[in-house]
Amino acid sequence: MSGPYPDDLRAAVDAYLTALRFPARAPAVGGLEEAMRYSLLAGGKRIRPVLALATARALGLDQRAAMPLAAAIELIHTYSLIHDDLPAMDDDDLRRGRPTCHVAFGEDVAILAGDALYAEAFKHLLTAGLAAGVPAENLLVAAAELADATGVDGMVGGQFLDVTADKALAAAESGAGDPVGFDAAASPADDVAPGPETPLPAAAPGSGGPAGPTVAVPVAPVVTAEDLRVLHELKTGRLIGASVGCVLAIAGVDDDRAAALRGFAADLGVLFQVVDDILDVTGTDLDLGKPQGSDERHGKRTYVTEYGLDGARSMATELHDAASTALRSAVPSTGAEDLHTLTAFIHTRTN
Ligand code: IPE
Ligand code: IPE
Ligand code: MG
Ligand code: MG
Ligand code: MG
Repeated sequence: MSGPYPDDLRAAVDAYLTALRFPARAPAVGGLEEAMRYSLLAGGKRIRPVLALATARALGLDQRAAMPLAAAIELIHTYSLIHDDLPAMDDDDLRRGRPTCHVAFGEDVAILAGDALYAEAFKHLLTAGLAAGVPAENLLVAAAELADATGVDGMVGGQFLDVTADKALAAAESGAGDPVGFDAAASPADDVAPGPETPLPAAAPGSGGPAGPTVAVPVAPVVTAEDLRVLHELKTGRLIGASVGCVLAIAGVDDDRAAALRGFAADLGVLFQVVDDILDVTGTDLDLGKPQGSDERHGKRTYVTEYGLDGARSMATELHDAASTALRSAVPSTGAEDLHTLTAFIHTRTN
């Protein structure tokens, strides 16, 4: 970690997550919980749950009401990391300073650990949230927002854009000439429109497994600045946005202050991923706890490939300034100190 951080909130999150168990009725399922807790308790920065608790503090909401949501978000984030690291995705072997879940437990168990973390997240949000006294209606609104932020219009949709962007661009550059390219691999299924006549690419690590895809998937190239921002908004920004937005839902706050806080969270989410792109180039495995250079190895389009390091750094500064201004207008008096600390941390972090 670098720079000041709301350490008390992080300690509260860590203690809560450590106490969280996923007990199985069948003892033979115990190994699944072990894999889930291996990744969950590996010492992440806890930015999303801390952001949720800091938002609760700014709104004057009791921490106990926000904690089930904060934990649920960290469960979902951990699942996204486990799947992101899989050989079919970024194929990375180091995460949070230890071997990735699939390296430690095998790909099959890692996939299931991710799946289980996702389901347990919603179970926990709803059951522990109710037990903490959050009105059921507010919980439902929060759960719907969390599902939306992680689904097709959120994190998973962003990951889809991320893993297909290079294929789409190659198709566009090879003369497909269509703004929506097609990943033309093998015979398209009858009900899918045929793609451009590009030859079947050789299966490469992280490109969908040895056999490659068998159905042509429509993919859109990430070309413009707007495309890249949308990718970052979805794959990372939406879950960070939900860390603020779902707390607003739980608190039942839906006024001008809520709109300003949502604007703050949107800039913060994109800032987070721009800095992640920069650190992928400038960081070290030791500091990051994950492999440096993963984006370059996979030919990913990032803020650094598009704008250079200096360009990406200036954009990060602009996003930081915009987020800080939005936060000052949302909470002009006291209460938002932790949110300001987090905003500065996300800008200047080195891990
Ligand atoms: C990494 O997130 C994945 C991205 C969305 C860029 P974090 O940098 O928050 O990872 P942890 O939770 O601290 O390990
Ligand atoms: C992944 O982005 C974002 C997720 C939804 C997990 P990255 O692939 O850049 O994340 P890191 O760098 O591996 O943590
Ligand atoms: Mg990735
Ligand atoms: Mg990755
Ligand atoms: Mg990254």
